Amino acid sequence: MSLIEKKLEDLMQKRTEARLGGGQERIDALHAKGRLTARERINLLLDEGSFEEFDMFKTHRCHNFGMQEKVFLGDGVVTGYGTVAGRLVYVYGQDFTVLGGSLSETLAEKVCKVMDLAIKNGAPIIGLNDSGGARIQEGIEALAGYSEIFQRNVMASGVVPQISAIFGPCAGGAVYSPALTDFIAMVKTNSYMFLTGPKVVKSVTHEDVTVEELGGADMHASVSGVADYAAESGVEAIAYVRKLLSFVPQNNMENVPLLATTDPPDRRDESLNSLIPDSANEAYDMKEVIVRTVDDGDFFEVKEQFAPNIITGFGRYNGHSVGIVANQPLHLSGVLDINSSIKAARFVRFCDCFNIPVVTLVDVPGFLPGTNQEYNGVIRNGAKILYAYAEATIPKVTVVTRKAYGGAYCVMSSKHLRGDINYAWPSAEIAVMGGKSAVEVLYSREARKADDPAVFLAEKEKEYCQTMANPFVAARRGYIDDIIEPARSRFRIIKALEMLKNKRDTNPMKKHGNIPL
Ligand code: HXC
Repeated sequence: MSLIEKKLEDLMQKRTEARLGGGQERIDALHAKGRLTARERINLLLDEGSFEEFDMFKTHRCHNFGMQEKVFLGDGVVTGYGTVAGRLVYVYGQDFTVLGGSLSETLAEKVCKVMDLAIKNGAPIIGLNDSGGARIQEGIEALAGYSEIFQRNVMASGVVPQISAIFGPCAGGAVYSPALTDFIAMVKTNSYMFLTGPKVVKSVTHEDVTVEELGGADMHASVSGVADYAAESGVEAIAYVRKLLSFVPQNNMENVPLLATTDPPDRRDESLNSLIPDSANEAYDMKEVIVRTVDDGDFFEVKEQFAPNIITGFGRYNGHSVGIVANQPLHLSGVLDINSSIKAARFVRFCDCFNIPVVTLVDVPGFLPGTNQEYNGVIRNGAKILYAYAEATIPKVTVVTRKAYGGAYCVMSSKHLRGDINYAWPSAEIAVMGGKSAVEVLYSREARKADDPAVFLAEKEKEYCQTMANPFVAARRGYIDDIIEPARSRFRIIKALEMLKNKRDTNPMKKHGNIPL
């Protein structure tokens, strides 16, 4: 064997050792729990054969608590780059088989290297998280490492898309870094996010809580809103990330990706003409409007389980991806409340960062009143959605399908918040409030004097609805650009988006705005 052959063999051996992470036994234990290794996840995420790895031989430098005896090539994270559907992405996957994927100073250096490259080269960064947080044996060095990652998360925010998937029990910095990214997918089993686990919770607050209750995927997807998606399996979470990437540009200087479609732009959908029920109090499914107008009925929803009274997600119109925000009359009559405002505001801001036009479908009876909402800051939180639409300079196309009442009218991408094209269906009711509430405010004193107050109020309500609860008042002012036939909505939205495709709008020079947080 020549010297170079020996060296090559040595290299191959080292590579094999690095690929085993914390060893076969730990890999088997992970598999037994239905979890994948970091490398297996990366292989599923990236196009076959496209992965180029960095820092495979990097090791930690810690000598505390006998750590010099626990040295693993690659030190608990696999990093590099590859492609998803032919487009460049940077990736890191924490390896739970190495000291629980805990973060050392050197592990942080590896992650920071790919983050720096992602920012410089304008490509998304995907974090596959499975980590117990800062490596306890390293102390301040691990904390410094996390802080370096947080700083880069913030610098990358709005420059390149950042997507996180959570596969194992993630704690401490392993949840704060994903929290700074744009989207988080979790897995229904084995994937948890919490500041610290149930044992520490018990010792600090004496609270008995299971890992599921404290930080499970369903909880975060439906209660806290931390997660955008709760996948059935790790494989499905990765498929979600791949599909999400197909809707977003590589960076903030690029336009949205184009996906050719055979769905005709002028396709009519007759069922939309009869979607709105005769009774204003009857609900219907706003998702029908979305799936019946987007290309091939393909709608990719985010935060589906959280605040379902508003729908957010991506679709395509004539091949171009758009963000869609829509009130959902099926839940709480589509009312705006704290959670739905926060959900929509964050989504609109993501779209605005990355030049993704937003189509807004409006059917909203107003903001939810009451002490619960007020005590929790509906004023401050409701202002977020207002702020997000008002600052957004992307193309904004709005369709009012039914109710657009009061402040909620103003908020939902109205003309006055630089809505570019605002359409209404003939069923639209654009007014300060609904007929029943309006006549109670305006005529309750006169009604008391009437022979039959109920008849008197019913007549007044009819008069109010004829005068106010229609789209023509707003159309006469030019606040609504046209009243459109529901069946032609797809065509009209596509025409509007095409007309707006070179839109340029700016905000005044400033360091940054001060969105109410
Ligand atoms: C060093 C760690 C570790 C950590 C886990 N391990 N977390 N080693 N530092 N933070 C090691 C374990 O010792 C164990 O090693 C192996 O990883 C697997 O861990 P287990 O506990 O056996 O696994 P499991 O039962 O699945 O529990 C996983 C866990 C738990 C829920 C993550 O390990 C845990 O609670 N870890 C601590 C979490 C935490 O409080 N982190 C916060 C750090 S502070 P062996 O060799 O025995 O197999 C932080 C601050 C950042 O991150 C700044 C925020 C702003």
